[in-house]
Amino acid sequence: MSVSIQEDLQQLAEILEAAKDAGAAYLKELPDRATTSHPGALNWPALPENGSGALNTLAQFKNLFYPYIVASSGPRYWGFVTGGGTPAAILGDWLTSVFDQNAQLSTGIGDASALLEIQTGKLLLDLFGLPENFMGSFVTGATMANFTGLAVARQWAGQQLGQDIARDGLRVSIPVYSAAPHSSSLKALAMLGMGSANIEIIPTLPDREAMDVQALLEKLPADPNQPFILIASGGTVNSVDFDDLAAIAQLKQTRNCWIHIDAAFGAFAALSEKHAHLLNGWKLADSITVDFHKWLNVPYDSAMIFTRKEHAVYQVQSFQNSAAPYLGNPWEQFSYLNYVPENSRRFRALPVWFSLMAYGKAGYRELVENCITLANEFGSRLLETDYFRLLAPVRLNTVCFQPDPQKTNGLTIPELLNELNRDGLVFMTPSVYKGESCIRAALVNYRTTAKDIDIALTAIVKAVEKISNLKKASPL
Ligand SMILES: Cc1ncc(COP(=O)(O)O)c(C=O)c1O
Repeated sequence: MSVSIQEDLQQLAEILEAAKDAGAAYLKELPDRATTSHPGALNWPALPENGSGALNTLAQFKNLFYPYIVASSGPRYWGFVTGGGTPAAILGDWLTSVFDQNAQLSTGIGDASALLEIQTGKLLLDLFGLPENFMGSFVTGATMANFTGLAVARQWAGQQLGQDIARDGLRVSIPVYSAAPHSSSLKALAMLGMGSANIEIIPTLPDREAMDVQALLEKLPADPNQPFILIASGGTVNSVDFDDLAAIAQLKQTRNCWIHIDAAFGAFAALSEKHAHLLNGWKLADSITVDFHKWLNVPYDSAMIFTRKEHAVYQVQSFQNSAAPYLGNPWEQFSYLNYVPENSRRFRALPVWFSLMAYGKAGYRELVENCITLANEFGSRLLETDYFRLLAPVRLNTVCFQPDPQKTNGLTIPELLNELNRDGLVFMTPSVYKGESCIRAALVNYRTTAKDIDIALTAIVKAVEKISNLKKASPL
């Protein structure tokens, strides 16, 4: 049966109803849905000459692919750093597709979506307790936020040396320092032509992922006027360690430096009275990365780069579209397309605005405190089993641990994760912390409860006992 776009338009209300039913059914069963799937070879249909319309395609999708969608937005998906979507965020996100705006504000008329983006940026500054001299721009994720912040930093450094890098290319070498940068910052340096290897890695403090600031001081250029970029961690991915941002910010008094903080999820420590001190000094940074598809619990893809307003000139120099007169003069009319990599931009502010307004500061404070409490509980209970050891203290929302080989018959991390992923009750990802293999459990989802900690713990103990007993029975 073939169905035309015009025919589908006639039954749009029915189609949206079907989307609502499919979405509601999925979200209802999400807590019980598996966190892994094993699709094997799928029998993909070829591109049809005549399409079957939206409703038939939905039915086809349900048969073919739906069973393999994993509960990555559910309460026990603790791999990577993976949030979910609050009800209000999903509402805003669905409407983002319905409204289909291109958030730019290039001409001051004909596009209001960027006004909501400006306002949402202000609400976020308020949420994090950051001053209004930062400007926020939505990008797709922390990787692009790091890219954007470092692009502006690069332009700033070039100008200090009398070079317009965005216009003339990279002809100077700019020192970049960091202690435990996220891989996405190295990727950003590669994309910026600065080179992912052209970063000086500063030693960390003993048993920490935080920068040894004294060691940094010893490495800095002899010439105090030499511009350099410092990539600071506002929460490392393995142990959620924070550089001493206050000590680093002090550098700005004596050195010519740009401080970029990757606070992709660590920024949310600002919402916890007990943990906000971890970010002391971050207000003095030049640019800050924060992800929203992590701990803010809005759907992919959503993050913000905060840049100091006084650096707008370097940001516009880096991202301007001055060769297109129809886009307006970047120096006269504000438009996001002169501030970030993309020209056309999804209305990303909408889900964030909906969720912030729906749950407020108190709702987000509670969400953050809940994840921190549960991560601590998971860490303590792993230790109580006697099968595990923690590689770092639980500083915020992430547990970094490994099986004790003495007590588990030499159980390896791949063996344990493979066994856990067979059942799909909880998902965690492997990593390497200071040269040692480990598992990370990062809790940022608003749905996670104490019951989920019980389920995960039972599953992990069962997996350990099953494999270590098997190994005992056949030691080879
Ligand atoms: C500290 C940090 N920075 C950057 C990223 C990259 O984020 P995204 O995948 O949203 O680009 C992550 C992802 O986990 C992260 O934890």
